[in-house]
Amino acid sequence: MIASLLASVLAVGLPADEPAPSKLGLCVSCHGSDGRSRMPAAPHIGGQNEAYLVWALNQYREGRREGDVMNSIIGVLNRKDIEALARWYARQTWPAIVEGETAEAADASP
Ligand code: HEC
Repeated sequence: MIASLLASVLAVGLPADEPAPSKLGLCVSCHGSDGRSRMPAAPHIGGQNEAYLVWALNQYREGRREGDVMNSIIGVLNRKDIEALARWYARQTWPAIVEGETAEAADASP
């Protein structure tokens, strides 16, 4: 139990073998650097399929999907940024979701 908790903390806390994308800082306040949502409206994106992430980001870029903040933030990302961010988030671990638990409560639990 402790080992598995430790493993999940390490998986989230350690940088992956590739350096973080230069634009990652634009995303962390809402999605975290691990892709675990930091606010109720923002979806978890860590561990999501890479091709899906590229597709979703391009949807915002092309105005095919409306997501307020996402439509404005996407304006500062070029294609390489989108690919790097999608690759980064796809390599993170999808968070274990506990029914009814908020992101804040999950972060606070040991
Ligand atoms: C101010 C908060 C905020 C910031 C900063 C932010 N996002 Fe988002 N993101 C959201 C919200 C809210 C949504 C849901 C929007 C919608 O309804 O489509 C979203 C949706 C997404 C989705 C779609 C997920 C899905 O499941 O379809 C992706 C991918 C994404 N964001 C990536 C990013 C990346 C990459 C960055 C940094 C460049 C970023 N976001 C910065 C709030 C934010």
